[in-house]
Amino acid sequence: MKTTTERPHETTTMRAMVITENGGPDVLTAVSMPAPTRLGSEVLVRVMAAGVNAIDADARAGRVGSCGSPDLPAVLGCDFSGVVVESPYAACSIKVGVEVYGVASTPRSAGSYAEYVSVPLLSVARKPSTLSHVEAAAVPLAALTAWGIVVDVAKSHEGQRVLVHAGAGGVGHFVVQFAAYFGAHVAATASPRNASWLRQLGAAQVIDYTSLPFEDEVTGVDVVIDLVDDDDVALRSIEVLRLGGTMVHVPTREVAGLQDRADAAGARLTGYEVAPDQAALAIIARLIDSGDVTVYVDEVYDLEDVADAHRRLAQGHTRGKLVLKIADE
Ligand SMILES: NC(=O)c1ccc[n+]([C@@H]2O[C@H](COP(=O)([O-])OP(=O)(O)OC[C@H]3O[C@@H](n4cnc5c(N)ncnc54)[C@H](OP(=O)(O)O)[C@@H]3O)[C@@H](O)[C@H]2O)c1
Repeated sequence: MKTTTERPHETTTMRAMVITENGGPDVLTAVSMPAPTRLGSEVLVRVMAAGVNAIDADARAGRVGSCGSPDLPAVLGCDFSGVVVESPYAACSIKVGVEVYGVASTPRSAGSYAEYVSVPLLSVARKPSTLSHVEAAAVPLAALTAWGIVVDVAKSHEGQRVLVHAGAGGVGHFVVQFAAYFGAHVAATASPRNASWLRQLGAAQVIDYTSLPFEDEVTGVDVVIDLVDDDDVALRSIEVLRLGGTMVHVPTREVAGLQDRADAAGARLTGYEVAPDQAALAIIARLIDSGDVTVYVDEVYDLEDVADAHRRLAQGHTRGKLVLKIADE
């Protein structure tokens, strides 16, 4: 079938942050470069804001995980919120001018630390109408990860006992809200400054990990959702699970002895890999617009200051998300 462009976009160059080598935050460099060309069933989006994720920092540093590493030079960034400037065919419901949010296909193709991104149609959905682009850009990857874990893996339900480590982070604050939305009893580990906020989000119990061993505070847990990349936390988490409980180790890498400990405890151990999901993005947008779920943006940076955002992320104490503002709304 012949594809048509509703309105060819005329911009040929764009501002972007690229890396030409792997390294620390300083390798992120501002450039002017050709805007991407839309292919096949992709939509071309004018990016208004881009979220910052751990996976971006991993790609920048060359920490090759299952996400793979991009060919260099590369535009990093997964999350974006923006406006469609080219859509793949005339009858497409995601038309030119529609505000969308979604995830870019990095490292396969150029990412969202740029004024334009071209992504598969199924990687975007209409952005939550009650959010600004800056707020919406904070949602996709973290919320899709949380949704996949809570809905597909944990199958959270009334009365289920869930322990989430790093409940105050980007993924964690969505996990707390989704699990509570489905009726689970949610315990979250966090530092004291985040305790009352996490209770507002739906946590029934907040454990101050800075002063208490969490295993003294919870037991008989159905599901542990571990968002802290710390072997000791992962190994100790097995102890709090009930027989037959599930441990979701979200960093999804090998931890020495973890599988053996899970086997010995009669627990199930799994990782998780987030993937673009238009249907889930649409549901998440509805939960946000209905007021059932909120997003917390900790700090907003200009595109060219993305290195500062990476440095802040590396400190490990972001509340919610960091976002790059790319254009005025
Ligand atoms: N597999 C996948 O598909 C996938 C997708 C997305 C993310 N991830 C991974 O999931 C993990 C979490 O990502 P994220 O973006 O949510 O991280 P993040 O936003 O950077 O997490 C920051 C939070 O971690 C908390 N924290 C730090 N140390 C802690 C500890 N020892 N115990 C409890 N909380 C602690 C901090 O809370 P306080 O300030 O209160 O200390 C802060 O709020 C990362 O490893 C990331 O790579 C995996």
